[in-house]
Amino acid sequence: MKRAEKVTKLFKSNLALVLVAAICLGTLMGCAGGLQKGASITKDSFGQMPDGTDVDIYTLVNKNGNEVRITNYGGIIVSLKVPDKDGNLGDVMLGRDSVEDYIENNSPYFGALIGRYGNRIGKGTFELDGKTYTLAKNNGENHLHGGNVGFDKVLWDAKKIVVKGCPGLELTYFSKDGEEGYPGNLTVTVKYIWTNKNELKIEYTANTDKPTVVNLTSHGYFNLSGKGDILGHELMINAEKMTPVDSGLIPTGEVKEVAGTPFDFRALKTIGKDIAADDQQIEYGPGYDHNFVLDKAFGEMSLAAEVYDPSTGRDMEVWTTEPSLQFYSGNFLDGTITGKYGQVYNKHAALCLESQHNPDSPNQPGWPTTTLRPKQTYRTTTIYKFSTK
Ligand code: BGC
Repeated sequence: MKRAEKVTKLFKSNLALVLVAAICLGTLMGCAGGLQKGASITKDSFGQMPDGTDVDIYTLVNKNGNEVRITNYGGIIVSLKVPDKDGNLGDVMLGRDSVEDYIENNSPYFGALIGRYGNRIGKGTFELDGKTYTLAKNNGENHLHGGNVGFDKVLWDAKKIVVKGCPGLELTYFSKDGEEGYPGNLTVTVKYIWTNKNELKIEYTANTDKPTVVNLTSHGYFNLSGKGDILGHELMINAEKMTPVDSGLIPTGEVKEVAGTPFDFRALKTIGKDIAADDQQIEYGPGYDHNFVLDKAFGEMSLAAEVYDPSTGRDMEVWTTEPSLQFYSGNFLDGTITGKYGQVYNKHAALCLESQHNPDSPNQPGWPTTTLRPKQTYRTTTIYKFSTK
């Protein structure tokens, strides 16, 4: 055999070997469409709606054995278990034991999907294409988190999904024209993907048949130590600016530098440090309940925030394509709700970091728009990423 022929033969036989190895590895890793070894998705009962409709809870376990539980009621993340620096799993998400508990004493959006418009719309009204729309007023004279029955209080259609071998859940909800006062039939899909890097990836898409406004988010209440309060957690928010509010927590329209104020989280800072500062914005909170304008190119997926708990070594990063982030320090928790494990949720028992467009944007023409028109697709992604250090 000539030298050239020999080389070709060797290459061909090795190529076959490489191909066989790749197929085996692919099957093992779950790339052939299945879940990776050790990962699973299971469905169980989570109780019933007042009309008797069954509600489910899905447990997503990644190949590291870490788990997220999500119910199709409100798309609520009920629990999220990740290791501390010694490898002990702990639940870092506030939540309740059953759907009846969530419904009964109106849990304040614990872990829920929020829509059609996250946060507040001043006086519950806005104008779009020359028409004035009146929304449900469920927060004093204002509209909050989609109204009386927002996306957090409805049943979503759920489907188990596998994305690159990782467990996921796809939720769909059809919001009728006129629901809570919003124009247009809106079809919303939210995909939760729980990756092997302990990232909870949330992908939102929506389409409408009439011009409307959309601002979707997730309202997870995080406590990285799984108990007590979050005042000792350290927080970084990648924002030089925030939007000050009035006493009803409606943006005044200003965009203010955080430098030299209690809102400066540009480097990790203990949340308790300035939470009681003598500052009018802090008084309005009371505490932190404010929108930060992220430093980023518009639409880019970028690091928005990091939370670190020195007591357990747990760390959480928030990445998003959204332009802004609401930091809420659990100011209205008052010990009246008892959650999982019999824990009583007191003031500052958790913090929320909600990716979003600025609150009240439909009334602020100069801000990034929240208008969605027919033939356009609303598309945003937010990732909560857990590790230890
Ligand atoms: C809001 C708070 C509100 C809380 C309800 C947050 O997103 O900014 O003002 O009280 O949600 O849980």
